[in-house]
Amino acid sequence: MVRGKPETGVAGPLKLEAIRSALAPKRLGGTIHYFEEVDSTNVFAARRAREGAPEGEVVIAETQSGGKGRLGRHWFSPPYMNLYMSVILRPALPPADTPQLTLASAVALAETVEPFLRPPPEIKWPNDILVAGKKLAGILAESSCEGGRVLFVIVGIGVNLNFPREAMPEAIRERATSLMIVTGRPVDRSTFVRELIHNLDRCYGDLHENGFPCVARRWERYFRLKGKKVRVESPGQAVYGKAVGIDGEGALLLEEEGGEIHRVFAGDVVPIET
Ligand code: BTN
Repeated sequence: MVRGKPETGVAGPLKLEAIRSALAPKRLGGTIHYFEEVDSTNVFAARRAREGAPEGEVVIAETQSGGKGRLGRHWFSPPYMNLYMSVILRPALPPADTPQLTLASAVALAETVEPFLRPPPEIKWPNDILVAGKKLAGILAESSCEGGRVLFVIVGIGVNLNFPREAMPEAIRERATSLMIVTGRPVDRSTFVRELIHNLDRCYGDLHENGFPCVARRWERYFRLKGKKVRVESPGQAVYGKAVGIDGEGALLLEEEGGEIHRVFAGDVVPIET
């Protein structure tokens, strides 16, 4: 495993000035907090939001000591090779519609990695980015609501960029990948971050100005399980059906045997071989 702080080239620290100066953000990225190490960029961003930080602040760390994944999992965050980033959002949406932000973020993420890949990446509902069936990136959105109103949403994004297979812990080695593994070349992380912030800004703008159907159409372009039989696993239960799409609240729509549509809000989607 690569340890310590590499000094030069694509393996070095992020170049914050280059990222900041190339951005002309409308909503996101006007302020970027950068850390060599933090417990979790989501935790720091939530603290900032509770203190009154405005929408659009971005938090980036070179490594996280307590990186958080979905469903209470740990997000492995080795230094100077990947991207760990969180964004503070203050949407004018009812709490039930906040999954739209996660889906818009997944579109921005898929559109950022797509130029590196042939064929394009896949989005695994709700928001994993897969390449050839392996996980390249994930999103953890955490909301704070009060009195039926959204106070803020933290969208945390982890992307495996220059993560060599030998540095991956065994628990994820068979299921995870990185852009470097897929393309055979290291990625310039600073350019990637700049593109991702730019695309997030654009996708939130689309959501705000054109509404969710515009984002949902782009999300479905990356959703390869549409029309396939799947099992959705959540702690203590599993539901089965044909994946037919998503609805306005970001729920996965499963068509059951009798044709009835079942809405699923959380879980891991597993395709069923037939
Ligand atoms: C998943 O389980 O797929 C979601 C992973 C999200 C990881 C990112 S890394 C940056 C941000 N900070 C965290 O603690 N988690 C998210």
